[in-house]
Amino acid sequence: MRLKVAVLPGDGIGPEVMKVATKVIRTLADISGFEFQSQEYPIGGAALDATGFPLPKTTLDACLDSDAVLLGAVGSAKFDSLPQNRRPEAGLLQLRIALGGFANLRPAMAYSSLTECSPLRAAIVAGADILFVRELLGGLYFGEPRGFDAATHSAFNTMRYSESEIERVARVAFEQARQRKSKVTSVDKANVLETSQLWRSVVKRVAQSYPDVALDHFYVDAFAMHLVTTPQRFDVVLTENLFGDILSDEAAAITGSLGMLPSASIGGAVNLYEPVHGSAPDIAGRNLANPLGAIASAAMMLRYTAALHREADEMETAIRSVLAQGYRTADIHRSPSEQQVSTTEMGSLVEEALTGAVIRRQAYHAV
Ligand code: NAD
Ligand code: IPM
Ligand code: MN
Repeated sequence: MRLKVAVLPGDGIGPEVMKVATKVIRTLADISGFEFQSQEYPIGGAALDATGFPLPKTTLDACLDSDAVLLGAVGSAKFDSLPQNRRPEAGLLQLRIALGGFANLRPAMAYSSLTECSPLRAAIVAGADILFVRELLGGLYFGEPRGFDAATHSAFNTMRYSESEIERVARVAFEQARQRKSKVTSVDKANVLETSQLWRSVVKRVAQSYPDVALDHFYVDAFAMHLVTTPQRFDVVLTENLFGDILSDEAAAITGSLGMLPSASIGGAVNLYEPVHGSAPDIAGRNLANPLGAIASAAMMLRYTAALHREADEMETAIRSVLAQGYRTADIHRSPSEQQVSTTEMGSLVEEALTGAVIRRQAYHAV
């Protein structure tokens, strides 16, 4: 089995966490016996500096010619004054459209050894395990018209959803729920927005094909409150693009840090895997970033692109085991009894735990 991956490190901590994540995958590939072929390409600010474009054609072509894309993060204040379609973030948005993954899976869970890390009380977060299914290619991010109107000193964006865009992402949420606790919570603003009224009616229609899955609906404002007061009651959370962007960062409070959260964008020609966090300019270049969200994104790549379910599980178990041993990057370090480690040290620890587990499994099967 061969996995050909375009790696896009991007900006800020992006290259730091990508270096670690690709090293972990390479080690796993070597001992597990699958071929991991990866090549790096520029995106975002790094690409703007090198080529003048946030998504150079060579990068896009390489992504379309790969089995999967693994991306670090984009964004730098240096480009804040550029027009929207030339900013680093535009490179990522253009890439998402080109790859076509409309369903952005963002799991957020409370790790049992990390509950003290959440600002929420342990009893509230313990056992919380949520999968956000964020619609990724529609809504305010891409609706036309958009722009500035100098004559009226105003600016405008358009929120637009078609039935088919809602239906396809809703199906992904119900399918995911079937493999979990069979519950979908749809989040919208149907008391105010027509797009949300359409959203709710399409989701209800799709639900009829999944009688075994329970469905409920929340308005986004109230949901934002329930997410941090009673996170354990949710399983799959289905929502539109901007609400999903905001709520998935809020969900970092359940896990303890934004640096922990992975994502997979599926449903298009080539799947895209990226941690939920951004380029974190406040800690970039200091070997401080938490690489676990990036490593967990690589695990999702093994699961959803390569169907290497056992290896994906082993990577996630390795993350859990390193946390259980008390190793913490700065963002999740809380008590003197835990050992603070750097980005690269955390990567090596996961690699060690993973190697040990795979070797034990191979020895067991060899007997
Ligand atoms: P951010 O996610 O970069 O950082 C928010 C906070 O979380 C910061 O305090 C940061 O230090 C911390 N943090 C984030 N990732 C971490 C990690 N792995 N380990 C430890 N701490 C971590 O969000 P921001 O500061 O609002 O945005 C910075 C830049 O990133 C902006 O240009 C923004 O557009 C961009 N951005 C990119 C992506 C992406 O590429 N997918 C996502 C979000 C933001
Ligand atoms: C994310 C980011 C992106 C988004 C930006 C950088 C375009 O915040 O992946 O969550 O808004 O989708
Ligand atoms: Mn975001």
